[in-house]
Amino acid sequence: MSTTAVPNEVRSDVKNIELADQGKRRIEWANQSMKVLQSIRKEFIKNQPLKGMRIAACLHVTTETANLAITLRDGGADVALCASNPLSTQDDVAAALARDYGISVFAIKGEDNDTYYNHILAALDHRPHITMDDGADLVTVALTKRTDVVDGIIGGTEETTTGVIRLRAMAKEGVLRYPIIAVNDAETKHLFDNRYGTGQSTLDGVIRCTNMLMAGARFVIAGYGWCGKGLASRARGMGADVIVTEVDPTRAIEAVMDGNRVMSMNEAAKIGDVFVTVTGNKSVITKDHFESMKDGAIVANSGHFNVEIDIPALERMSSSKRTTRDFVEEYSLKDGRKIYLLGEGRLINLAAAEGHPASVMDMSFANQALSVEFLVKNHASLEKRVFSVPPELDRRVARLKLESLGVKIDRLTPEQEEYLASWSEGT
Ligand SMILES: NC(=O)c1ccc[n+]([C@@H]2O[C@H](COP(=O)([O-])OP(=O)(O)OC[C@H]3O[C@@H](n4cnc5c(N)ncnc54)[C@H](O)[C@@H]3O)[C@@H](O)[C@H]2O)c1
Repeated sequence: MSTTAVPNEVRSDVKNIELADQGKRRIEWANQSMKVLQSIRKEFIKNQPLKGMRIAACLHVTTETANLAITLRDGGADVALCASNPLSTQDDVAAALARDYGISVFAIKGEDNDTYYNHILAALDHRPHITMDDGADLVTVALTKRTDVVDGIIGGTEETTTGVIRLRAMAKEGVLRYPIIAVNDAETKHLFDNRYGTGQSTLDGVIRCTNMLMAGARFVIAGYGWCGKGLASRARGMGADVIVTEVDPTRAIEAVMDGNRVMSMNEAAKIGDVFVTVTGNKSVITKDHFESMKDGAIVANSGHFNVEIDIPALERMSSSKRTTRDFVEEYSLKDGRKIYLLGEGRLINLAAAEGHPASVMDMSFANQALSVEFLVKNHASLEKRVFSVPPELDRRVARLKLESLGVKIDRLTPEQEEYLASWSEGT
């Protein structure tokens, strides 16, 4: 791993420090849409709740993450940042954080697997008190390869569904060695970020790299969870013929009643023009499905890991492959058909577009900042398991967001409160 010497002597490994000016302008642009985080930042500057804390964050290195890292720094923390996916880093943002904001960054878009993990190790060299994850790779590496730093960690946070699932499995097996706050499970996170953020940015990623027409396209979505619902409603809004595949019967009914066609992947594979997996599961699109796909079918993933599509099977079925456009690989199958894989099967919204818009990350990252403050205050009384974001923090984020949007809502009257708390009314 090469270590780029940067003017402020922050130890970083970024692609090109000269991209910093552009990164800084884009970070400032995102900041304008992150009013909740701005108000937390003001409070952090005044109260310094994170003074003396070292934080290692493994997140998608985007303009929104930059504003979170700056907020944590302004709260008194010393922050090191590495990528949570080899393709999601915005190199200009990484450069600006390293050069202008005093944050150590270890992230390069397109880094290979070894560099990706070396960067995680570099973030752990920071000897963090707090870990911040998006997919639980940082915790996993700390618990398996850098056990020497674990005793110094007082707690961590987790941003996404897949990470929370992994961490709950660790807690169940008794291997989790410090408390984690599941930021993903806050209402002001998954109801908005996963639904509206992933919904919009996944379409953005597919469209940016293919320039395809959505109207009339048979758009197959695997998984009708929070992300899948958002993606389906936005694809329908652009005129696509949306087909959903599911394994959960209740979610499948929901998909039907929301106006989608629902069928098995075996059926959908025969008729789909575009396929996007967003399940958090593995092997959702397999060799059998590739075998029945139409010539020219497009396949992408927006779930956390690149295991939802069986890419090794596609490789084996192909006689050649070439890059036709940025983030579009054309696989020529031995029977003459072509299948197009977008963004190497990695999160397409971050690989080919810019990830979620700042306005929605505002709430997710407000939850992150408040959860870190909560951990600093309360870690001594927390067990080594996965906790929800305290509801009062979640509601505070919602109130601040409404305020920033200039939306006023009604309040319960004392009479209504009494009515709702009572069981004797109506008798
Ligand atoms: N792209 C992004 O920026 C982004 C943002 C948030 C979350 N995520 C990731 O997206 C994934 C989904 O997150 P979510 O919050 O929607 O989760 P969720 O649990 O709400 O939904 C997942 C859905 O997939 C379904 N599913 C599981 N296996 C399936 C299979 N084989 N075929 C069809 N459906 C199947 C489940 O029944 C469930 O309804 C996770 O990996 C999460 O980490 C990505």
